[in-house]
Amino acid sequence: MPRDPRHDILFEPIRIGPLTAKNRFYQVPHCNGMGYARPLSHAAMRGVKAEGGWAVVSTEEVEIHPSSDVSPYIEGRLWDDHDIPALALMTEAIHRYGALAAIELVHAGMNASNLYSRETALAPSHIANPASYAPAQARAMTKADIRTYRRWHREAALRARRAGFNIIYVYAGHGLSLPMHFLQARHNHRTDEYGGSLANRARLLRELLEDTKEAVGTDCAVALRFAVDELRGDDGIRSAGEGREVVALLAELPDLWDVNVSDWSNDSMTSRFAPEGYQEDFVRFVKTVTTKPVVGVGRFTSPDTMVSQIRRGVLDLIGAARPSIADPFLPKKIDDGDIDDIRECIGCNICVTGDHTMTPIRCTQNPTMGEEWRKGWHPERIPQRTGEDSFLIVGAGPTGLECARMLGRRGYAVSLAEAEDELGGRVTRESRLPGLAAWARVRDYRLNQLNKMPNVDVYRGSRVTVDQVLSFGATRIVLATGARWRRDGVGRSNSRPIRGFDRSAGIFSPEDVMHGAHLAGPVIVFDDDHYYLGGILAEKLRTSGLEVTLVTPANCVSAWTVNTLEQDAIHKRLMTLGVEIATSRNIVEFNGEHAVLQCMFSGRNSTLPASSLVSVTARLPNDVLAHALAEADAAVGASGILSVTSIGDCLAPSTIAAAVYSGHRYAREFDLPETDGVAFRREHPNLTAGDSL
Ligand SMILES: Cc1cc2nc3c(=O)[nH]c(=O)nc-3n(C[C@H](O)[C@H](O)[C@H](O)COP(=O)(O)O)c2cc1C
Ligand code: SF4
Repeated sequence: MPRDPRHDILFEPIRIGPLTAKNRFYQVPHCNGMGYARPLSHAAMRGVKAEGGWAVVSTEEVEIHPSSDVSPYIEGRLWDDHDIPALALMTEAIHRYGALAAIELVHAGMNASNLYSRETALAPSHIANPASYAPAQARAMTKADIRTYRRWHREAALRARRAGFNIIYVYAGHGLSLPMHFLQARHNHRTDEYGGSLANRARLLRELLEDTKEAVGTDCAVALRFAVDELRGDDGIRSAGEGREVVALLAELPDLWDVNVSDWSNDSMTSRFAPEGYQEDFVRFVKTVTTKPVVGVGRFTSPDTMVSQIRRGVLDLIGAARPSIADPFLPKKIDDGDIDDIRECIGCNICVTGDHTMTPIRCTQNPTMGEEWRKGWHPERIPQRTGEDSFLIVGAGPTGLECARMLGRRGYAVSLAEAEDELGGRVTRESRLPGLAAWARVRDYRLNQLNKMPNVDVYRGSRVTVDQVLSFGATRIVLATGARWRRDGVGRSNSRPIRGFDRSAGIFSPEDVMHGAHLAGPVIVFDDDHYYLGGILAEKLRTSGLEVTLVTPANCVSAWTVNTLEQDAIHKRLMTLGVEIATSRNIVEFNGEHAVLQCMFSGRNSTLPASSLVSVTARLPNDVLAHALAEADAAVGASGILSVTSIGDCLAPSTIAAAVYSGHRYAREFDLPETDGVAFRREHPNLTAGDSL
């Protein structure tokens, strides 16, 4: 399809200092759990972005010195020349497709743990890192330290150029770097020319920009990433105050302004808490203060929104981290006029969890993310079929839909049978919960793709029996029947059913609530699952007017969402709505009138009145059909069926990302030789000549 002329503006080249970006699509820095430790995986992932049409592809935070060691997190590293070859792999992969490679040079200052390097952390003033409870402090930098730091930064810029980077960042975003710490009045208590007035606090940032331009500015562009608002009122930088003043002070110094909000949880807000384009109000002023190109972010997936940002003079370049993760080919699809093929980010922040768990990035929408090198998976290409197999996939939740999509793309004949009239399984149910509407994109993208495939038939309202499976005629049976929440309270904290949870009245599962069951208040939501669902059900029930207490054995609500950057926001929302919160409490009994709560530390019991209790603890696979087919083993063999395979939640319940991955993996790997060993390529420490014990 030809490109929609309304989107032409997105493909205009943009001058950035001495360089030209071929269009306005800019992959802003994002970490990925691969960083310095897995350079081949990392380079391949960035290369796919460049192939997908992004004019600029950036690294993540790249540490410039051992005193900026953010271990155990795995970011980029450019401590000395030994780090150049790994980064050069990436620039090569990016340049292969005509994109510019950008590097975000970072000294993390007081945020550096230095757990590996054992150096002392540096800061404008003596300070304990407010983002960590580690029993260590950063020391106040002397003026000699500042000179030394400027030299490190300059040397890193020179090394970055040697590694092939075209755009070199000075980083003052997210409150995670020295120049930002100097800007922040709450962290900078200096009385010399680097403290006090804003001009003084901005001195270091100005010097870094000047140093970098002087070092590499003739052939590289120098970008400044700056958080114009910290969203903490008068205690922080505000776009209506010092944020604007900093941009005015340094307006023409960088070749590019990359502007956003801080801290990271505000910048990468999930769709539960912020819509597409949510940063506009904060960054809109920047273009009125500088003539330099401006890039900004806001989970942009709609080309019309992108065009509007440019036409209304908000941004010059469309920055994207998550949209580029969910669909590395987003620019190319817009260019080709294939708008409805865009795999839109759902704003769930599973991608962020890779950083927090120090493992390769993964994405709910894009199961190939992080697998480009180690499994050779490409987001837009899959090998064609290798035989005449035909498939019956039972269950059209995220696993079944993805499996059907990929088998269909491979050219196989696929039948997808869903027991319900509605498709999408848990994604459809959960997308109706407060703030999760965007999650329906997991279903909608796949359905839209399936609708274009003549070799895929979808049957709704078809609860499949063993006899139907046997007589269907497919050679391969894939079971993707999902899972259901248990009602007996068994979970992490209770290995046996909780007393009273077998009552016929008053006990509800999450599905009951999602299907609109009538609950009498007061209600307890017992969250021993610790991801989003307990919190969101409490929110839903409270908004419907019920008195709600969220009880959890963890010491904070929705504890695992710390990994998706949402935990604070969830806690705040529940408090604001008036949900009572009881942390560090197990439930040991419920009698329809009250629950007995047990303190996780003292073991002391207390009672809490409740007429209804929602048990959010653990799930059980829907595996009745799997067991029945296993029982009918002989008949299965006689019917010509070559394999019966359970995938996704019906094998072992997990995240939606894992469900999609499981469906994708089956479609790619069912015809590969089986292995019970390592199923992917690994990167091994590279011992070089001269290394010895
Ligand atoms: C997985 C992930 C890792 C990120 N890592 C970095 C980073 O290393 N440096 C940085 O400046 N911003 C980082 N960010 C923030 C993004 O650059 C971006 O500003 C933010 O996600 C908002 O843009 P988006 O809505 O397009 O995702 C990261 C974001 C994500 C989702
Ligand atoms: S994991 Fe979720 S938020 Fe991250 S890119 Fe994928 S869909 Fe978007």
